[in-house]
Amino acid sequence: MDAPTIAYLDNAATTRCDPRAAAEVSRFLLEEYGNPSSVHPLGVAAARALREARETLARCLEAEPGGVVFTSGGTEADDLAVLGFARTLRRHGRHLVVGATEHPAVLEAAKALGEEGFETSVVPADRAGRIDPAAVASACRPDTVVVAVMMANNELGTLAPVSEIARAVRTRAPRAAFHVDAVQAFGKAPVSLRATGADSIALSSHKIHGPKGVGALVLAPGRRPAPLLHGGGQEGNLRSGTENLPGIAGFARAAALAVESLAAEVPRWRRLRERLERGLAAALPDRLVNGDPERSVPTILSVTFPGVPGEALLHHLEARGVLVSTGAACHSRRGGSHVLLACGMAEEAVRSTIRFSFGRFTSEADVDRAVAAVPALVAELRALSR
Ligand SMILES: Cc1ncc(COP(=O)(O)O)c(C=O)c1O
Repeated sequence: MDAPTIAYLDNAATTRCDPRAAAEVSRFLLEEYGNPSSVHPLGVAAARALREARETLARCLEAEPGGVVFTSGGTEADDLAVLGFARTLRRHGRHLVVGATEHPAVLEAAKALGEEGFETSVVPADRAGRIDPAAVASACRPDTVVVAVMMANNELGTLAPVSEIARAVRTRAPRAAFHVDAVQAFGKAPVSLRATGADSIALSSHKIHGPKGVGALVLAPGRRPAPLLHGGGQEGNLRSGTENLPGIAGFARAAALAVESLAAEVPRWRRLRERLERGLAAALPDRLVNGDPERSVPTILSVTFPGVPGEALLHHLEARGVLVSTGAACHSRRGGSHVLLACGMAEEAVRSTIRFSFGRFTSEADVDRAVAAVPALVAELRALSR
């Protein structure tokens, strides 16, 4: 499918690579293809490019360059934080605290630690997907070693008060590492390691118009999780393996572009979201908008169409060139959304929910195409399921 023929409203699943980031990837694949560990000029140039990419990421996140660990993506960054911190801090305790709406990268890593004798407390979310800092505080214990709460939820867009949560963690579990998955927040809201007071932040390149298969764990000074990979000692011994320099350079370019364009993009995305919301509300007064209207990234709109099978709606929209999702991409083949269920939504409502998500290339025309297509399809599908 050609990019211009579709209205791509699934940017929370992944984004089209920005040509400027793709040009960096290409440059480091075709021209500057050295290994940063090699001592000849190609290697030296590669090492310099790697250092510059690290500095760029550090600037974007208000972190120290030495704290940036490049990974294969958001999943590895989350795993490195949860598993790595649990293992280095195990002498202080074997208790973890995670939000109920976390990405499976965090939830499954916590579950895997059960095999190593760790216990996990799950902090519930309210109907809008909000995590209450007081609830995180009361879940913390003296033996808590890892707390993980995501900054923006990938299905609802709801933002968590992460700096408040960081303060609560410091008071209640001073030895714990506080990890923030900012994969969906970065590039859509200001994200600063310093301002959040987190010990680590996970990022993913493909959510911000960078290449796939690359991300980072950004660490606060002095914080070191145990590595998951053992080998040549790259990335300060935290992530062995020859660095994916094409991906890293493309990611750094995408990150800089995301930060540069944030102030202009946020109001544009807000207008697009309002346009979509208004358009759907006018034709479908019984549709329900999910998430927190007060604190959320402007790029995600989750809508429930009561009585409509969401998956059928998705496929009918796809036939009209409008691409959306029924929830997180990683669930769409597994059925059911743990996020929406954790927010107390009935299973039937979960099955009738569609996520629209925007990116840099989303236009008013894309939104108008969805607004034009959805109401008739909703009426058709309701009639069929009656
Ligand atoms: C909130 C969140 N965390 C982590 C990930 C995983 O990132 P990656 O696809 O780079 O492994 C995703 C991607 O869906 C996400 O939305």
